[in-house]
Amino acid sequence: MAGNVVVLGIQWGDEGKGKIVDLLTESAHAVVRFQGGHNAGHTLVIGGTKTVLHLVPSGILRPEVRCFVGNGVVVAPDALLAEINELELAGIDARSRIFISSACPVILPSHVALDQARERARGSNAIGTTGRGIGPAYEDKAARRGLRMGELLDLPTCTSHVLELVEYHNFLLRKLLNSDALDAAAVVAQCQMWGEALSPMIVDVASELESILKAGEAVLFEGAQGTLLDIDHGTYPFVTSSNTTAGAAASGSGVGPRTLSRVVGVVKAYTTRVGSGPFPTELFDSVGGHLASKGHELGATTGRPRRCGWFDAVAARRACWLNSVNSLCVTKLDVLDGVPQVQICTGYRLDGALLETPPIDSRALSRCEPVYEVMPGWEQPTAGAKRLSDLPTAARCYLERLATLLEAPLDIVSTGPDRQDTMVLRNPFGQ
Ligand code: GDP
Ligand code: IMO
Ligand code: MG
Repeated sequence: MAGNVVVLGIQWGDEGKGKIVDLLTESAHAVVRFQGGHNAGHTLVIGGTKTVLHLVPSGILRPEVRCFVGNGVVVAPDALLAEINELELAGIDARSRIFISSACPVILPSHVALDQARERARGSNAIGTTGRGIGPAYEDKAARRGLRMGELLDLPTCTSHVLELVEYHNFLLRKLLNSDALDAAAVVAQCQMWGEALSPMIVDVASELESILKAGEAVLFEGAQGTLLDIDHGTYPFVTSSNTTAGAAASGSGVGPRTLSRVVGVVKAYTTRVGSGPFPTELFDSVGGHLASKGHELGATTGRPRRCGWFDAVAARRACWLNSVNSLCVTKLDVLDGVPQVQICTGYRLDGALLETPPIDSRALSRCEPVYEVMPGWEQPTAGAKRLSDLPTAARCYLERLATLLEAPLDIVSTGPDRQDTMVLRNPFGQ
């Protein structure tokens, strides 16, 4: 039987998951997104051509692969349709290969308005959300009042549900957040249009996956965001509103946990974060500037500059065991080329004590001082390496140290944005 693989981020997102999903999809029959929404920005570069995906799974550039959006994903139909159109303009047949769970919560324009109004109201305590309505849509799901994709197909039920929901959102916007209300009738009209456009793509994803798995075909589960943004295990409240960890691959797509044979943890060779929240290894010096400029660290969704810092092995080690990572992928090694000395955070100092595990509380985390291990850097470029033995010795030592600290086997190393700039030491699909 083929193995099934989860690919997810171990840091605060943007680790290069999209690139790795695209690469590994060569061995898969289907790719499934299981959480998050169009807050994600996953960049694929193939032969120099760049594609940025937000909601569409990163398997879409492999023509024979089916792409699923599982029940754990919050779907903004307008964003999805725009993304599909863009792919089709680029000559990619997307419509016939994308399948969306009828159980996915719908992101309405009023969720976007609420997200943005709440951020404004938080002032200097803002989370720095992507402003895409993600949090409010998950709130409505948990409160059992949300609209689901399947309801778009039943106009009378959908109409009354949307009117009721937008009325509730308008109450919050006007009375609590001092913001403008939305025209509920216009939202209903949008829903009708979305239902018509998306109806052939709305399916029972869990049942489709059951058939694929029964046939012994391999499935890749694509994570979005990163473990440190997980609603339960991340740096709360500076997190996203979904579980980004491996368990969500099962619950967010409708497969049992024994389906997941390999969990690939993707880490950048350093650390980045977009938005607010604690970041113990953040750099404000010229090295931080180097990482930001050489790594082109601008958000793929919002274009905001990403904060940059040294690799945080304390946070990443915890993330690896939270996900039972049994395959490690290190990306953006090339960005460290030419840095004279590289540092890895191996402990935190808090109130005089040395911690090897991060504190759960964000306020405590923001007071932690990183304790660093210093390693020699390397001058020679790592880009273009085809084997580990092609890398400078210091770069190899750095990778080995990361794998030792994270207690996971190093399977993939990425040294450039393009699909081809990758060394697969062991294929997680076991082929
Ligand atoms: P994702 O959200 O995890 O899919 O990552 P993003 O696409 O948001 O951000 C990763 C960025 O780094 C993208 O611009 C990629 O093209 C780029 N990238 C991925 N791997 C590498 C690498 O090994 N080296 C360099 N220089 N860039 C990379
Ligand atoms: P990918 O999949 C990096 C961050 C936002 C903010 C917090 C909450 O490309 O790695 P939200 O809009 O989700 O309510 O924002 O989460 N965030 C991401 N940061 N990469 C992402 O996705 C992110 N998706 C959300 O910046 O701090
Ligand atoms: Mg991204």
